[in-house]
Amino acid sequence: MLRICILGLGYIGLPTAALLASFGQEVIGVDINSHLLELLGEGGIHINEPELQPMIIKSISSQSLKLRSAPEKSDAFIVAVPTPYNEAKSCDLNSVTAAVNSIIPYLEPGNLIIVESTVPPGTCADLVQPLLEMAGFKTGEDIHLAFCPERVLPGQILKELVENSRIIGGYTHGCAVKAAGLYRIFVKNEIILTDLRTAEMVKLVENTYRDVNIALANEFTVICNQLGINAVDVIELANHHPRVNILQPGPGVGGHCLAVDPYFIVEKAPSLAGLISMARVVNNRMPVFVVAQVKILLSGLEQPKIAVLGLSYKGNVADLRESPAAIIVNLLKQAGFRVMVHDPLFGGDEITNHVETVVKDADLILILTDHEIFRTYDYLRLAEQMRSPVIFDTRSIINSQRFNNTKIVLYNLGNIYTVNKDAFPGVNLSTDGCAIFS
Ligand SMILES: NC(=O)c1ccc[n+]([C@@H]2O[C@H](COP(=O)([O-])OP(=O)(O)OC[C@H]3O[C@@H](n4cnc5c(N)ncnc54)[C@H](O)[C@@H]3O)[C@@H](O)[C@H]2O)c1
Repeated sequence: MLRICILGLGYIGLPTAALLASFGQEVIGVDINSHLLELLGEGGIHINEPELQPMIIKSISSQSLKLRSAPEKSDAFIVAVPTPYNEAKSCDLNSVTAAVNSIIPYLEPGNLIIVESTVPPGTCADLVQPLLEMAGFKTGEDIHLAFCPERVLPGQILKELVENSRIIGGYTHGCAVKAAGLYRIFVKNEIILTDLRTAEMVKLVENTYRDVNIALANEFTVICNQLGINAVDVIELANHHPRVNILQPGPGVGGHCLAVDPYFIVEKAPSLAGLISMARVVNNRMPVFVVAQVKILLSGLEQPKIAVLGLSYKGNVADLRESPAAIIVNLLKQAGFRVMVHDPLFGGDEITNHVETVVKDADLILILTDHEIFRTYDYLRLAEQMRSPVIFDTRSIINSQRFNNTKIVLYNLGNIYTVNKDAFPGVNLSTDGCAIFS
C-alpha cells in the first residue's frame, strides 16, 4: 500500500484521490480552499460527477482518504492544481510553484512527484526540477519526477480514469517506471512511457488538434453562410469520406482545456504557431457570429425576448468555465435584448428557471448547449407559449425534419443563411468573412 498525497481537490485531483483510496491506498487530499475541505468533510461535493460523492463519503469514513490543508509525508505526491492563463494568455504557474514548494518540507529520498496539471512544455524540467534541486535533492537519483497528463471527459471522469490509456513522461526512464507503478493500481488500459517534455507537449497537442478541427468547422460555417450553402449538411456529407472527420461547428469553444491549452503552445513558439493562434481567433469570434445572426432574426420586432437553453460550455455538464454560451448571453443583454436562461443542470433560480417560464412570450428559443435533455423537450407545446415560434439551434441537436409542416421555424448553423438572404437582402454578404461580425 502506498501513501499518496494529492494536491488540489478539483475536477482532476478529487476523483483521482477517491479512486486511489477505493483501490486500497492511503490518500491525503490537500487543498488550500478551507471551505471546500469543510464541504467535503460534511459529505458535500462541488463537482457534478456520477458516483463520486458516495465514493468520497465511504473513503473518508474508512480513513483511506484524509482531507488536509497542508501536505504530509508520503510515498508519492500528485500535483493537480489549476493552471489558468493570465492576461497575456500565457500559463499562470503560480499554483504549481506553490504546490511544489509546499511539499518540499515533507519530501524524503525515494519519493515520487507527479505533475498532472496541464503545463507548457519544459515546465517540469525548468521550474519543478530546479525547486527540488534547490531543496537538496538529486532528481532521478534520490527523488523521482514525472508528468502524467489527464484526458478525462467531465461526466465520465471515474470511468475514464480507469479505462483511458496514460502517457507518462519521466525525468529519467526510472522516474517514468516508478510513476507507471502508481497508475497501474487503477489504470486498466495501456501506460506508455516517454520523457517529460514529450508528455507535456502531448497533452497540449491533443486539445489543440480538437480546437483547430472545430475552428475549421466554424470557418466552413461562416464561409458557407455567405455563399448560401448549408454547412451542417456539407460537413455531414464530407465525413462520409473514409479519411475525413470534421468536428461539429458551434457557438464557440469553452471549457478549461480546449479553450486554454493551445495558448500554452503559442506562448512557447509565438512566431511559429500561426495556425493554432488563428484557430483560437476563429473560435473566439463565434459568439459574435451567433449574436449577429440573432440580431438579423429578430430585427424589426419590438423588445424581442430570447429564451436561451443551456449555459454550460458543453452538453451534460454544469460547467461555466470559458463558456461561449455565457459570453453570448452577455452580448445579447448588452445589445438590449430581454434574455432569460434555462439550464436544468445548474442549481439556483437565476439559471435553472423552468423552461415554461423562459419561453413564455419569447420570440426566439436559442439553444447554446447540447444537453441531452434538450432533445426530449416538446417544442410544439412550448411554442404555444411563445410570441413567435422560432428556434435557432446552434448545436444542431434537433433534427431539421422534425418540425416540417408545423408552425415552428427551425434554424441551425447550416440554414441560418436563409434568413440573411431572403428576409434581409440589404445585409452585406461581402467576401470579407469578418464583415458579418460587425
Ligand atoms: N478539468 C478537466 O477536465 C481537466 C482535464 C485535463 C487536465 N486538467 C488540468 O488539471 C489541472 C487541475 O484542473 P482542475 O479542473 O482539477 O482544477 P480545479 O480548479 O477544479 O481544482 C484545482 C484545486 O486546486 C486547489 N489548489 C490551488 N492551489 C493549491 C495548492 N497550492 N495546494 C493545494 N491545492 C491547491 C484549488 O483550491 C482547487 O480546489 C489543471 O492544470 C487543468 O488544466 C483539467
